[in-house]
Amino acid sequence: MSNHLIVSAHPNPEGFIASWARASAEAAARLGPVARSDLYAMQFDPVERAANPLKAQEDASARNGWAADVAGEVAKIRAAEVIVFHFPIWWFGAPAILKGWFDRCLVHGGLHDVENRFDRGLCRGKTALFCVSTGATESEVGPGGKEGRLDLLLWPLAYALRYCGFDIADPVAVHGVHGYHEGAEKAALEARLGQALTDQDQILETLAARPRWRFNSDDDFDGAGRLRPEAERIWPFID
Ligand SMILES: Cc1cc2nc3c(=O)[nH]c(=O)nc-3n(C[C@H](O)[C@H](O)[C@H](O)COP(=O)(O)O)c2cc1C
Repeated sequence: MSNHLIVSAHPNPEGFIASWARASAEAAARLGPVARSDLYAMQFDPVERAANPLKAQEDASARNGWAADVAGEVAKIRAAEVIVFHFPIWWFGAPAILKGWFDRCLVHGGLHDVENRFDRGLCRGKTALFCVSTGATESEVGPGGKEGRLDLLLWPLAYALRYCGFDIADPVAVHGVHGYHEGAEKAALEARLGQALTDQDQILETLAARPRWRFNSDDDFDGAGRLRPEAERIWPFID
């Protein structure tokens, strides 16, 4: 039994991302309880307000005083052992509605605080899985690719979750997803999309065995928060 939260961010309820998220929800339902956060369908408000910066988030956490939509998401995040995110890459990152979900819902004082982050994160034991579509081809978002390495595009989101203590499973990506294919290319894309939906069952069922991203541990940093010279350079973001 594991408890899943499926978060999806695409405006088209009939599109591939919506179908993929549904495939995840169905696969997850075979493994235990499932919660959904379809951010567009919920009309989730991604904009953090002046009243809610970091200190205000902490104060709100102290009295369980988050906005109702945030409180609902925090409860889902706390209950989840696995969060599966479904979204397209837009401008080399996540759609704004999902970035806003991170901004508002990973609440300071609730899901992390100064003493409880990174190796001591409050979400230790939970796993996040990104399932993304790109318009770019696999080689364009691979090493040396013109559209930027996909793992680096996902890195800031992954690191926000790592900050809270999550493990990050190796992402799943479907490439070359756009409406400009014709003929055999279009048929090949449809076959790949169909395969991704079929594969989701197996991906969630075997998630525990899926490789995890490696991060520097707290001990790899000195008192000033700099990576020690002898520590491994795992990611170009921290070099
Ligand atoms: C605003 C916007 C920005 C996009 N930026 C990127 C990008 O940076 N990299 C990329 O590979 N694809 C990009 N795309 C293509 C989408 O990733 C692609 O359309 C999506 O994965 C396929 O889903 P859809 O056609 O169902 O929306 C972008 C699309 C839109 C609408």
